[in-house]
Formats: sequence, C-alpha cells, structure tokens
Amino acid sequence: MLKKNSFKKTEEKAAVNLPSSVKQEMSNQVRVTALPPISLKGDKKPQEKQQLSDLAPRKEDIKLLTTYNFISDNIPITIRIYKKKGEFVPIYEVSISSISKNTEIILEKIREELTTQVSLGMVDIMTTKDTGIIEQRFMEAITTLVNKHFPDADEKTTNFLKSYLVQRSLGLGSIEVLMDDIDLEEIAINNASDPVWVYHKKVGWLKTNIMLKSEDQIRHYATMIGRRVGRQLTILDPLMDAHLKGGDRVNATLEPISVGGNTITLRKFAAKPWTITDFIKDSTISTEAAALIWLGVQYELSTLISGGTATGKTSMLNVVANFFPPNQRVISIEDTREIQLPKFLHWVPMTTRLPNPEGRGEVSMLDLLVNSLRMRPDRIIVGEIRRKREAEVLFEAIHTGHSVYATVHANDASETITRLTNPPIDIPKTLIPAISMIVVQYRNRRTGVRKTFQIAEILPNSEPNVLIQLDIRSGALKKVANSKSLLSTIELFTGFTRNELFNSLKEKETILKWIVKNNINTVDGVGRIMAEYYTNSDNLMEYVRKNKPLGD
Ligand SMILES: Nc1ncnc2c1ncn2[C@@H]1O[C@H](COP(=O)(O)OP(=O)(O)O)[C@@H](O)[C@H]1O
Ligand SMILES: [Mg+2]
Repeated sequence: MLKKNSFKKTEEKAAVNLPSSVKQEMSNQVRVTALPPISLKGDKKPQEKQQLSDLAPRKEDIKLLTTYNFISDNIPITIRIYKKKGEFVPIYEVSISSISKNTEIILEKIREELTTQVSLGMVDIMTTKDTGIIEQRFMEAITTLVNKHFPDADEKTTNFLKSYLVQRSLGLGSIEVLMDDIDLEEIAINNASDPVWVYHKKVGWLKTNIMLKSEDQIRHYATMIGRRVGRQLTILDPLMDAHLKGGDRVNATLEPISVGGNTITLRKFAAKPWTITDFIKDSTISTEAAALIWLGVQYELSTLISGGTATGKTSMLNVVANFFPPNQRVISIEDTREIQLPKFLHWVPMTTRLPNPEGRGEVSMLDLLVNSLRMRPDRIIVGEIRRKREAEVLFEAIHTGHSVYATVHANDASETITRLTNPPIDIPKTLIPAISMIVVQYRNRRTGVRKTFQIAEILPNSEPNVLIQLDIRSGALKKVANSKSLLSTIELFTGFTRNELFNSLKEKETILKWIVKNNINTVDGVGRIMAEYYTNSDNLMEYVRKNKPLGD
C-alpha cells in the first residue's frame, strides 16, 4: 500500500541527496568513515548497540498508529509508527521494504570491499580538481562490485543497490531516509547514545529506531553539511546555523557546549506550503474571516501577521500572499527561504546572506529592502520585522505606494503595535495607520492546535480595533466589532459602496467554500483560481454557481 504524496519530490531531494561537493568531502573519509548503522527489518546484530533490538517490540506490546511507504533515492522504505508498552513516546520505525537478509549480508561485504578499494591513497583529496575523481572511482567501484555479486539483477535492482551503497558509504546514511519523508518537519540528533528523534506533521515528536554510531559520526555529518554551505564547525566555533539550498535549515552544536554530546537539528523546508483551503478545512480560520483578509489583500492594504514563536505566522503569510493578483510584481525578502508563491506570478524571491568567516559578503534585510524599492515592486513580502531601520524602510515603502506584508513577533493586535513603537523597532506611533490590517496567529498551549486569533484594523489614532476574535473555549472565530476604518479605506481607494463590499465578501465566501469542496489545496491551484477571479470573474463564478470544478 502506497500512501499518496509520500514519494519524494526530486527538487526537494536535492538538498538531502548529497551533492558532489559533499560526497567529495565524504570520500575524504572513506577509509575511516564510521559507517552508519543500517536499520533493516529483523536486523539484530549484537554490535549495533540497542539499535533495533532494544526497540524491536513484541507484537502484543504495540499499538500501530500508522504505516506508509515512500521511495528514498531508489530505496523503497516502509515506515511504521506505533505506541509501545512502557514507552512514553511513540516509535517511528524505518525499514527497507524489499531487502532480504541475504542481500543485506552481501551488501555489507561489498561495503567492506569498497572501503578498502577506494582509499585516499589514490589521489590527493585536497586539490579540488581531483575530488571528482574520487567520487567517480567510487561509483565505478560500486558498479563493478554490484555487477560481480548480483550478475542477474535487473536495472532497477542494480540502481537500488548502488543507491543503497552510496547513501550508506558517502551520504548521511539513515538520516537521508528521514529527510525524504515529507511528513517529517524536524530531525533531531541529540547524541550518539539516544535514538534520533523526529517531529511528524500529524503525530508530533517520535523516537526513531535509528542511532548514530558515535559522537564522531555526528560531528562528521555536521561538518559535511556545513562545508557544503561554507560554514565551519570547530572547537572554537562550536555552534553552527546554516541554510541549505533547498530551504532546509541545519543547526549543529559540539560537546562540551552541548553537554550530552554533539547535536544536529534539521528543520525541513515544508514540501507543501499551507493554503487557505487547508486552513479552512482544519478550522484554522473561518471562511468569513478568510474573505475579509482576501478583500484587504485584493485592494492592496498592507497587512501584518503576528503571533508567538511557531504559531504559524510564516504559514499564514504564505496563505495571504496566495490572494495576490497575477499582474503585479512581488518581491519577497527573507532570512530563510520559506515563502512559496504560484509559479506563474511575477515574483522575485530574495534571501539575506550572513557574512563569511572573514566578515565579508553580508547581504542584510535592510540591503534587500532598499534594493527592492528600486525593482519597482507592487507588493513586498518581508519575512520578519526585527530592527528599527528595516521597519523605517518598510513604512517608507508603504508611504510610497507599495503594499507590504510582514510578520512581527507579538501575541495580539495591541501588543503588535506596542512592539513596533518601542525599542528595538521603535518607530513613531503616527506611522502605524499605514498598516491597515493585523492578523494574529495563535497556538493553544494545551492542545497544540494553531488558529487565527484576531483580525484587527488600525484606527487613525494608531489603536487597533479587533473585528474578529477567537473564542478559545469553543474554537470559533466571532465577529466582535464593526469596521470603522478598514472598509472605509477600501471605499476611498475604490469608490465602492459599503453594500458592494458586503456583496464582494459574500462572493468570496462562496468561492472559498467551493475551493474547499473541490479540495484545491496547492499554491498553484489556489493561485490559478485567484488569477481567474481577478481577470475573468464571470467565468469563474459560473463554475462556482454550478458547483463544478474548473476545467483545464
Ligand atoms: N494552521 C496550522 N495548523 C497546523 N499546523 C500549522 C498551522 N500553521 C502552521 N503550522 C505548522 O506550525 C509550524 C510553525 O509554523 P510557522 O509558520 O513556521 O510559524 P512561525 O512563522 O510563527 O514561526 C510549522 O511546522 C507549520 O507547518
Ligand atoms: Mg516564521
């Protein structure tokens, strides 16, 4: 049984499937590599510590929560998530679906042969022009050995065997498998004596059946990842935070700073960004509230998304930006690439860069903001407002006719304004009304559920007026005040009457319900509906009214 969407996407894979530079780096270590333990079904080799044997449960002691399959670099993987008697945290068990004990033994043998065949002795690894040769020799050696030991294997099997060997010998081993599970958000290695933990989208934190062999191996993986993006990890510089090309983020720390051992925390780039469809379906937001945000975005009102840590600010920013029309130029500025807009939008994503170890080459948020104003944008998305100069440029951008969307760390609408008007951001309170709308995201600390908490407008005196508020007990968003400034601002910008705006809100609600009913939940899918709405709404409304899906 194959779970839909569980197959990795090739482009996301790129970040994980180590690029040649890392593999080259790795080949440096080929002789000494502490080969990662393999987690195979029924694998109970004594030397592999508690690897699997301690965790391998008896049937009657477990309660299966879910199971699914996906392919990781040609290797078919089966995941089982189960609760085990005596364990407080459910187990995430990785196994390779189609590999027999025999095959595994032969592969182990090949691996041993490989490490003796491909060694540093062949070329000087330090000269970069030779590093490709190592990789090439490695591949050649693997091919020869696989052909020798499995002469009858078809092409598919041969590819699988080769990938397996490369992943085990040059890559991050089992960690790569975890990186390929699109349901995982976080991978945490705490030390070499505990299993790797993962954060699963639906089930939360889980203990895996994967353990790294030694502290050296963790450090080695961290170094490998760091080299790839030009970051170093040393005794003198034992903390590393790096953004990988594909958007994944890696943090690593070395002992004794992390007392328990070397750590690696991998935060994966969301494979599928959130859409308004998911938010409405999961009751993060009501259709009524979503329609109000959409109306604001349509008429270019600048909007802030606020909330506490990991309440879903960036996810909401992405959802909001999905309401953009197709004929406007969008520039996004972030520290980490998170925003994903429809591919057909007129969009230039930009990310900041930290200085290199010599302190050169930094590109700051402010640099990008200032630069973006010279790129003639209609809309500017800013990952997060943190400093005074950024905020000043941002408000300047609004005053010169751009509409701006940004996140701010604050727990509610009035705290958002307090944050903006006090150090370190500290902008004059009189500037605040340039922002028209604040959307606050919230995470319930008891249930972990994330929802929209408030939608507020800003009054001319810079005070917020909360229009829609979450009732925490019932979980419903309720209208708590009439608009005093937001709708009149739109009337002023558009010449619509109040009644026409109410009709527009109703129409948007109808479309949103139809989008949800038809489960249009990709960024491109929603973007296409928006494009249709802005350019040919009569046509779209015909489909919506007939309650049928939009044809191709
Ligand atoms: N409405 C939601 N329902 C469930 N999970 C969500 C929701 N919004 C965001 N998340 C998840 O919460 C985590 C934090 O989201 P993110 O947008 O990065 O938060 P922030 O920007 O506030 O730190 C991510 O894993 C994201 O997928
Ligand atoms: Mg964020």
